[in-house]
Amino acid sequence: MKFFIDTANLNDIAEAEALGVLDGVTTNPSLMAKEGITGAQNILNHYKKICELVTGDVSAEVIATDYNGMIQQGEELAALHSQIVVKLPMIADGIKACKYFSDKGIKTNVTLVFSAGQALLATKAGATYVSPFLGRLDDISTDGLHLIKEIRQIYDNYGFETQILSASVRNTMHVINCAKLGSDVMTGPLSSITGLLKHPLTDIGLVQFLADYKKGN
Ligand code: G3P
Repeated sequence: MKFFIDTANLNDIAEAEALGVLDGVTTNPSLMAKEGITGAQNILNHYKKICELVTGDVSAEVIATDYNGMIQQGEELAALHSQIVVKLPMIADGIKACKYFSDKGIKTNVTLVFSAGQALLATKAGATYVSPFLGRLDDISTDGLHLIKEIRQIYDNYGFETQILSASVRNTMHVINCAKLGSDVMTGPLSSITGLLKHPLTDIGLVQFLADYKKGN
C-alpha cells in the first residue's frame, strides 16, 4: 500500500519523506488555507515547493466547478511539474474533465467520493486515483471502511485499474484497516504515519537491551 501524506505543511512533508516511506502528497484548498497559503499564484508556487520535496505524485486540486474552468486550471496545474496529479471533484463536469485528462495521459484524482456508484463513474472516466473519504463517513455514523471494501470488490470484479486512495484517514487504525482491505493508497496526516511506529514493548525492550549491554562494558 502506498503512503501519501495529506497536508500542505512543508515540515510535515519533509519529516515523512525523511522517514523513507512516503509515496506522495495530497492537498486540498482547506489544507492550503490552514497553512496560510492563499491566492492563485501563491498556491501554484506552493505546489512546486511540495514537488521539489518529494519524489512521488502530488495531487493539486482545481477550484473551478465547470468543465472549461477545470480544463484550464488542470492544464495549468499539470504544466507546473511532472509529479502533479490533477484533482477533480466528483460532479458531472469533474467526471467529464477526468475523461479529458485521462485521454491526454495526465494523471487524475477524483475527490469527494462517498459512494460505490461514484467510484464506479470515476474509474469509467479513467481516473488514476479515486478518493473515498472514510473519516467523513465515520463522522456521520456511516462505516467508511465498508465503502473501501465495496470499491475494492467492484474494481476487482472487472479489473479496473484506478487506484483506491483512501482519504480522510485520521488515525493508525484507519491505515491498518485500509491495508487489510487492499486499498492501493492511503492518505492521512503525519500522525497517522508516525503513530505506526509506536509500541510500549518496543520502548521497554530497547531500554532493557541498552541496560544489559552496559552491564558487560
Ligand atoms: O484527503 C481528504 C482529506 O483532506 C479530508 O480529510 O480529515 O478533512 O476529512 P478530513
